[in-house]
Amino acid sequence: MQLADEVIDYQYQNALYTPGETWSPLAEIQAAHLLNRQRVAAILPQLNAVRSQTAAEREKVPGPDDPPLQPGFIEYPQKLLEGHRKQGATSELGRIMAAAQRLREETDRVVVIGIGGSYMGARALFEALCPTYHNELPPQVRTQRPRIYFEGNGFDNDVLQDLLDMLENTCVDPELREERWGAIVISKSGETLETAVAYRKFREEAVRYYGSQSARRRQLIVPITGDKGRLRDLLINEGYTDEDILPIPNTVGGRFSVFTAVGLLPAAVMGLDIRALLLGAQAMTKRFFDEPFERNPVLQFAAVNYLLTEEMKKPIRVMSVWSKKLEALGYWYDQLLAESLGKQGRGATPVTAVQTRDLHSRGQQHQDGMRDKLINNLIVKTCRAPSIPIGMADRNEDKLNTYARKTYPDLMNAALRGTNHAYAEVGRPTTDIILPSLTEHVLGQLMQMLMLATVVEGRLMGVNPYGQPGVQAYKRNMLRVLEETPKS
Ligand code: PA5
Repeated sequence: MQLADEVIDYQYQNALYTPGETWSPLAEIQAAHLLNRQRVAAILPQLNAVRSQTAAEREKVPGPDDPPLQPGFIEYPQKLLEGHRKQGATSELGRIMAAAQRLREETDRVVVIGIGGSYMGARALFEALCPTYHNELPPQVRTQRPRIYFEGNGFDNDVLQDLLDMLENTCVDPELREERWGAIVISKSGETLETAVAYRKFREEAVRYYGSQSARRRQLIVPITGDKGRLRDLLINEGYTDEDILPIPNTVGGRFSVFTAVGLLPAAVMGLDIRALLLGAQAMTKRFFDEPFERNPVLQFAAVNYLLTEEMKKPIRVMSVWSKKLEALGYWYDQLLAESLGKQGRGATPVTAVQTRDLHSRGQQHQDGMRDKLINNLIVKTCRAPSIPIGMADRNEDKLNTYARKTYPDLMNAALRGTNHAYAEVGRPTTDIILPSLTEHVLGQLMQMLMLATVVEGRLMGVNPYGQPGVQAYKRNMLRVLEETPKS
């Protein structure tokens, strides 16, 4: 059972209007740009049908010629938790925890190598749930929570070199835990060029540092990959056993894989409570299947976003996050939405905005620019740290003493309410996803909610949310260019 103060709430009143008797300029704008309440009510039968379809798909095994189908993410949190209850240390979750413990005990720096779905979930969890300056904290404060770095997510020569240099400068004696580093290499296909090249570079670095015969190298580089592919072949030839390699199930797509080893191993290395993440995800799945529309944030979010995008012609979808700690979560959702529904000339274009920072860059456009946007606010109700007051000062030329008793959360709340009100006054739709706080359990709920809602939205649109045929084109061209270009 979830306690009320742990539950995510979704409010979409600011995206709706009720047709009235009297005409006013605002009523006319609202009728043109907000959702008619009756339209939301009318979509309920379709939503229920999609929910039943989603439930049925969990059991379906697609044939070789069927469109991609990867609903495994829906039940995976529950499967992992059950497996752990029954088999303990030998279960998949037990193996993830053991690998994390090894990296935590043995190293003070861990590089997570991966891209797209094999990267963005872990980064979102890191930024949302670890102290903002985690990597800068001394080891005794981090207590066996290594510093975390992300690589293999591009071809940036200088950034890679900076990381290698930093490791060489800070890790001098491999006998000291504080000077040992490890890595997690993640690729479902095992064929992704960014990840493959970065793994080669970090492997070379590890051979140089730990020695070519050292068992440490294999213990401190933990791989996560699918059941076949070049990465697995390479690992087996390097002496890894199947037991050493953590799996990514075929039934779970890359961008839906945050609650497999892909997100869970990095999260456990960061010292996060991965069981609480999974329990949060499981609770959201249950809410999705069991609750009526009125208490079902998955169905509400999918319906409101679908109708505003498709019928009210709002193709730009802004995830407006009201905490700097949620910026990477916004990018994770960007990928989820863009790769899942950006198909056949359709699908909203995702944008992440961080508030109040981006009120000073995008605010003008959101208030007054093209009427092509739906803004979903992502709001954290309770801060982790005690509220910081503005306070009284002897000099008051800045005129802040009037607000001396107000705190940072008061300021944030005033900015949010002021912004939502300003948009409502000119008929610009907003909705609010309200997180009680930033905890593992809440992030588990949130990420599962957005993954489920993306599947539901895709089915409402008639677009298959699984697979990403469009990203093959650039890869083909890139390989052709590499083959053609004379060696420099
Ligand atoms: O969602 C997806 O499937 C993609 O974003 C992949 O995660 C990304 O391309 C990385 O693929 P891989 O894990 O196979 O290296």
